[in-house]
Amino acid sequence: MIYLDNAATSFPKPPRVIEEMARCMREYCGNPGRGSHKLALAAAEKIYDCRVTLSDFFHADAPENVVFCQNATHALNIAILSLARKGAHFICSDMEHNSVRRPLEYLAREQGCSYSVFNSYVKDPERNAQKICSSITSLIRPDTVAVISTACPNVCSARMPLDEIGALCRRAGIFFIVDGAQGAGHFEIDMKRSDISALALPGHKGLLGPQGSGVLILSDDFKSHPLLYGGSGSASLDPDMPTELPERLEAGTLSTPAIVGLEAGIGFLKGIGIEKISNHEKTLCTKAVRMLSEIPGVTVYAPRHAGSVVSFNIGTLSSDKTANLLSERGICVRGGFHCNPMAHSVLGSDTHGSVRTSFSPFNTADDVFALAEEVRAIARGKYR
Ligand code: ALA
Repeated sequence: MIYLDNAATSFPKPPRVIEEMARCMREYCGNPGRGSHKLALAAAEKIYDCRVTLSDFFHADAPENVVFCQNATHALNIAILSLARKGAHFICSDMEHNSVRRPLEYLAREQGCSYSVFNSYVKDPERNAQKICSSITSLIRPDTVAVISTACPNVCSARMPLDEIGALCRRAGIFFIVDGAQGAGHFEIDMKRSDISALALPGHKGLLGPQGSGVLILSDDFKSHPLLYGGSGSASLDPDMPTELPERLEAGTLSTPAIVGLEAGIGFLKGIGIEKISNHEKTLCTKAVRMLSEIPGVTVYAPRHAGSVVSFNIGTLSSDKTANLLSERGICVRGGFHCNPMAHSVLGSDTHGSVRTSFSPFNTADDVFALAEEVRAIARGKYR
């Protein structure tokens, strides 16, 4: 089996992730922050270690600003809904996943907010940052509260100019929310350098942790509002949620096994080095773009390769059908719309989505050759 669906969830996981999760369940899985006995303290300590690791890895203001969530969607909902008030205006890119688009649609429909969409020029990389910033600038209004951008879309490898957008937001006095779902673990994201106010992360994709290990990292000045209310393990007599992070946003028991698995996943990445991983994945993407583009009848979408995702279609064959044919031949890819209709409208794949391949540090050039060979056979009509 060749796994090329790492944008949905990475597979396999480094052995140390599985080993640490099993060790946690076997040896120290008390309830963190609930009680002062040995197991509760051991779990709390491990969780704090992961906050420190994440804070260092993404250059956050402090480990306490690292909030554990269920997934990146949960993290984005906290960040976006925190800023909701009647009349609030948001700006997002034209490549946003439904995890951004749907909360914004809800706020526009039910809460008196509005949003505008900036052009990411993914098909036109020349002076991309400059053009994106002009597009955003033209949309900023006195009631604009935030710009929301993906670090890299989940449909194509068009890395967004986070440093430039962040600087623009700082100058305009508005928050900058980043969906790091397809960037984290694939290339460096630096909250300080890019002036990021809120960074949403899935632990189970590029960071190589397990599902259920989402993260929201906030800057000191971000005014957050809880999405969930409940036990925080502290100030139990207070009817309100605590005012301090991370307890303010972490109602209920955290998933200690998921969080220690995430810590181990990041440890694995650090052992190799993010630069090396980034270059490895870019090489695979470049190879995939080149080999797929050479196949008669294949369209590759937005063939920039600054990330780890390549989307394509074979003629008018449905992307689901192609994905199924590849699956029957032992190659795991994703077909369809990938929860991102906005991106497909921009790329011109809005009628039948795309076949998406996405890489991890575990993929090799042989995987790309095998993919190209099978795509060539399907394009020739061998399996029809
Ligand atoms: N958001 C994930 C994807 O792009 C699930 O496939």
